Order: sequence, then structure tokens, then C-alpha cells
Amino acid sequence: DRTRVAIVGAGPAGLLLSHLLAEAGIESIVVDARSRAEIETTIRAGILEQGTVEVLDGIGGSRARTVGHRHDGIELRFAGEGHRIDFPALVDRSVWLYPQHEALKDLIAARLAAGQDLRFSTTVEGVHDIEAQPRITGADENGAPFEIRADFVVGGDGSRSVVRRAVAGRRETGSFREYPFAWFGVLCDAPPSASELIYSNSADGFALISQRSDTVQRMYFQCDPNTDPDALSEAEIWETLQRRVPGTRLAEGPIFQRDVLRFRSFVAGELRRGRAALVGDAAHTVPPTGAKGMNLAVADVLLLGDALRRLLVEGDERGIDAYAERALRRIWKAQHFSWWMTSMLHAAPGSDAFDRQRQLGELRSVTESEAGRRYLAEAYTGWPLER
Ligand code: DHB
Repeated sequence: DRTRVAIVGAGPAGLLLSHLLAEAGIESIVVDARSRAEIETTIRAGILEQGTVEVLDGIGGSRARTVGHRHDGIELRFAGEGHRIDFPALVDRSVWLYPQHEALKDLIAARLAAGQDLRFSTTVEGVHDIEAQPRITGADENGAPFEIRADFVVGGDGSRSVVRRAVAGRRETGSFREYPFAWFGVLCDAPPSASELIYSNSADGFALISQRSDTVQRMYFQCDPNTDPDALSEAEIWETLQRRVPGTRLAEGPIFQRDVLRFRSFVAGELRRGRAALVGDAAHTVPPTGAKGMNLAVADVLLLGDALRRLLVEGDERGIDAYAERALRRIWKAQHFSWWMTSMLHAAPGSDAFDRQRQLGELRSVTESEAGRRYLAEAYTGWPLER
């Protein structure tokens, strides 16, 4: 087959990019190794910046504002006190709690309705000749070999990206940081315990009380990265969570999913080479504190979509030449914010009384100052999107 842009990965980045390209009259094929059912049911991120919601509105069919919930703030809890960060009052913006897999259902439905060539259960094994005449090869849904030739290849294929290996060339480079803790995440059948998210720095370690719907809740607590998710009883999980959000009585219910999320920061050394580029988790990973992952993917795609329009419609190379540098500005701001929220809220193993008191001093500096609260609100709700 032949297309103008071969997009590897039908996550938020790949699907949004196919939409933006179609708007510019550029045809694409999107392939993903996973099945449609897997993509539409895997529970991942939950918080959309206001700018992300506005981008999704532009596609049509987004239920972010109807099924999702607008959140006008978060609570930071520490030393037995809650401190609300009031987003509209500080920055006149909000965020939306809307599960990523729901956004993906909307995107997939909209792309299929528009006639997008979207191929599930299609595994890319090779990315070839990206300096001149790119091709991707692999196995289709029946296990038969396929080849797609394109003018440009985009890797929106997540943290274990196949496209990234081709873009990196012989030696993969990048910036990497691993953290000495992880999140134990649970999904449970219960009513919400709070109307907004609670980010809690407790003496026993961090916990986050989030939500998914009126009947399903998402909660996390800091744990050792080597924790076996099945090693804890439900009673132990609730006991840990309860202890880490003093002042709130959590509404408990059956836990139907549990997972351990490792904490990593990563930025690929190359975001583009020749006729290939990376977006989203293929290009970078942030630790989850602050919920920047999916939002950052959307920001990358707006820049790349514009660069590809200039390249493929106008024959102008300048946009694509500037893509990495432009994208990296926001990527590193989001890296810093995610690292900062993480370091301010978690107890690092081996930390002592100085570290603990310094952290509480930092939390007070932020929450007792309007400038501090506004800084947090500005980053959390999302910096202005460039396109
Ligand atoms: C969720 C995850 C986050 O990392 C975060 O900062 C807020 C919410 C969530 O999964 O609900």
C-alpha cells in the first residue's frame, strides 16, 4: 500500500494527528498492534487540560464535557491540612476528568466515520529508509506480511516505540531518570470520596484520591517499585490509603483492578530524522504526578500536524526542521512540572528529617502564596497551546 503519512499507533496522538492531516487534505493510514477492544478498554490517564478538551471539541463527537466532569481545583494535603488550588480564580481555566479510553472511543468513532484507514491488530516490525522513501513492514491482523510506503512516518507508538529505534539510528540517546518509588493504583466500585482530586503528602508517603465516574474510583499510593500488585489484601490496600489521607473517610468498595506504575522521566535524543518523527510517549515519558502525559502528546501533535501540512502541501521544510526544537520547549516544561510535583509530594527512601521539613516548607511556600498557587494552577491546567 501507499499513503502520504504512515502513523504507527492508534493512541490519542496518532488518532488526533490523522484527523488534523485529513483536515489539511493529507491522507494517512493508522496502524496499531492492539485490537480495538483493547484500546477502548485499557484504563490509563484521567485528566485533560482545558486546551486538550478544546482540541477534542474541534473533532466532533467528544463526550469530554458531557460524560466527563469539569474540575475547578485540586487539593494539596499535608501536615493534617487541606489546601485548595482554585483554578478559575487563579488562572480562569479548569481541567476535565475524562478517562483516556473514553476519549479514544470518541476519536476512533470519529475517524472511522470520516473514512480513515485505521488498522488494528497490525504489528509494525520494520521502519525502513526514513532518510528518503520511508516504508513500514510487519504483520497484519491475519498474520500476513504487509508493507506501507509513505512520504512520512510518524511514531505515536508509545514508550516501547518501534519508530523511535529507526529515528535514533545506531545508538539510542536521550535523557533518562528513574525514581526510587512507584504508584500502586487501584480501581474500585465505590462512590466518590471527594468531589475533587486530593494529592496527599503524608508522613507515610504519598496518596492520590482520583475518580473515574459516579460509581468507579481511581486511587493510588506510593510504593516500592518491586511491589507485587497481588501481594496485598484489599484490607491492606484500604488501610494504607486511609492512613495516607488523614481527615477524609474513604468510601470503600470492591477493588477490580490493581497495578504498579513505575516512575520514569525520559526524553528521546532525536524527535525527528529525515522523513520520520516521534510524538507522545514514543518521544518522552513523564512520571504521572500532575497528569501531563496525554496532554503533552496532544501538544506535540498540534506542532507536528502543522509542520507536516507545510511540508506535504506547501513543500516547505522549515516547519519540520523546527519541530523538535519547538516541541522540546513544552516537553521540558512538562518534565520539570512532573518532576517537581513528584519530588514535592513523595517520600524518597532514605530521606531524613531535613528532607521532610524542607518538603513541608516548600508546600507551605506554594499554598500560602497566591503567586505559588497560580504557578501550580497555570502548569496543571496547561500552558497555551501553539499551533
Ligand atoms: C490521575 C493520574 C494522575 O497522574 C494525576 O496526576 C491525576 C489523576 C488519574 O489517573 O486519575
